[in-house]
Amino acid sequence: MHKISEATSYIQQQYPTQPLFGIILGTGLGSLVNEVKIDKSINYQNIPHFPISTVESHSGRLIFGTLGNAKVVVMQGRFHYYEGYTMKEVTFPVRVMKNLGITKLFVSNAAGSLNPAYELSDLMIINDHINLQPDSPLRGANLDPMGPRFPDMSDAYDRELIGQAMEIAADLRIPCRQGVYVSVPGPSLETVAEYKYLRVIGGDAVGMSTVPENLVARHMGLPCFAVSVITDLGVPGKIKKINIDDVIAAAKAAEPGMTQLMKQLIARQ
Ligand code: HPA
Repeated sequence: MHKISEATSYIQQQYPTQPLFGIILGTGLGSLVNEVKIDKSINYQNIPHFPISTVESHSGRLIFGTLGNAKVVVMQGRFHYYEGYTMKEVTFPVRVMKNLGITKLFVSNAAGSLNPAYELSDLMIINDHINLQPDSPLRGANLDPMGPRFPDMSDAYDRELIGQAMEIAADLRIPCRQGVYVSVPGPSLETVAEYKYLRVIGGDAVGMSTVPENLVARHMGLPCFAVSVITDLGVPGKIKKINIDDVIAAAKAAEPGMTQLMKQLIARQ
């Protein structure tokens, strides 16, 4: 708890204004930041106890500013379990953002498709998840002041936000799916047999993030909205060798739509 308080106090000394919404941007999906009127940007390395990004495609800083009419805090660069962080480190920034005062969390990520109807660069609003991560950020002593020992997960992704996002996507004529996200530890991608298995157990898309952050958000009662960009197809017959450049290119193609969707959704809150 004291690490969370120390990081929060440091940030509040640098930037005293309370952000209302927290945003975490996934691989290749950073351009929402260009829509933010930036007041202050703080490098992760300057914040006490903050982990530091190691993946090249993520730059690490917290950005404070205004999006639409709302004060937001944006994580430019997130942490993944495969980088070697503990789950508590991966989710530390979500605890801090909640302590800073955010009331809703918005997340994007890159994911492989499992649903055969999906195409490259499609958007999928996450309406539920399956957690295949090997550890939970909630394991160990419960942070009682932050939330219950056994958090309910029947409302993991806020239904009202999903409904609003579907309306906005329809208005903007952005093709948008809804589905179940499976979170795996990575960093290797799936074998063909694993993609098939993840489909059989009920997944529509698979990726290496988002669920740890969602668990911590829900532990603290923070409503969460998350959307995946389909960056590769994990459907038998469509599976190709993956490289990070293709993933980023597919994410880039979807980025304008994703950015508009997030921006308008946040403007509605
Ligand atoms: N599998 C797991 N994680 C991913 C994928 C995938 O196919 N694409 C982007 N992140």
